[in-house]
Amino acid sequence: MTIMSTLLTLLDAFDNLPQARDLRETTYRALGDAVVDVGCGGGRAVGELAARGVRAIGVDLNPAMIQAAADRWPAAEFHVADATALPLDDGSVTGYRADKLLHALPEPERAVAEARRVLAAHGRAVLIGQDWDTWVIDSDNPELTRALVHARADRMPHPRIARRYRNLLLDNGFTDVTVEVHTIVWTDASCLPTLADIAGEGAWLDAQAARARDDRLFAALPIFVASGTRAG
Ligand SMILES: C[S@@+](CC[C@H](N)C(=O)[O-])C[C@H]1O[C@@H](n2cnc3c(N)ncnc32)[C@H](O)[C@@H]1O
Repeated sequence: MTIMSTLLTLLDAFDNLPQARDLRETTYRALGDAVVDVGCGGGRAVGELAARGVRAIGVDLNPAMIQAAADRWPAAEFHVADATALPLDDGSVTGYRADKLLHALPEPERAVAEARRVLAAHGRAVLIGQDWDTWVIDSDNPELTRALVHARADRMPHPRIARRYRNLLLDNGFTDVTVEVHTIVWTDASCLPTLADIAGEGAWLDAQAARARDDRLFAALPIFVASGTRAG
């Protein structure tokens, strides 16, 4: 499996959770009729928005990801581009969406400035993602669990960016900034691929698999949703 297909499998598993579907719905509110989804991955949000009659544009830096998205959602529009240099004119969209993206960027503030550039006056931006330090996982070895979670977080450029979403929007002149938190809870084996991504194979993961078999797995993850309006 390539890194891209592994990521796509993890994203699909997450997206298919009923709680994740409800969360996505909340992120589609008030984005208007022309929406760019940046770091779109497999393009699910783009496809879902396009199916509602929105002009939905997916952008991702990874050409293989964009190919997968275009194959899955042929009615939608996709482009390979960087979040800091979108192939869009100034003020050309009514909505901007970035889901699980900013933690991966070396300079997330530049992506938010780019959101401001492409949004029309009174357009709405929504930033969605987790704080990678806030995984809650029941384990017989909490110290090791904390160390594994933090080690995974430390492999990305900005693991704690979600707690800064509100300030990033305010610092870029967005108004009416709101923040919601939606906590995803897993109690079964559907969480194991995600836990494997955190910890890798080994005794810790085996213990979590045993918990899943015994109906004793518990993991929770707060997802932050911050929105703001581009001032006129
Ligand atoms: C964790 S995935 C999230 C995908 C999708 N938003 C979702 O929620 O399922 C992050 C995506 O951001 C893309 N990405 C990473 N750096 C990027 C950049 N600088 N510009 C645009 N996309 C980027 C990756 O290729 C990947 O598809």
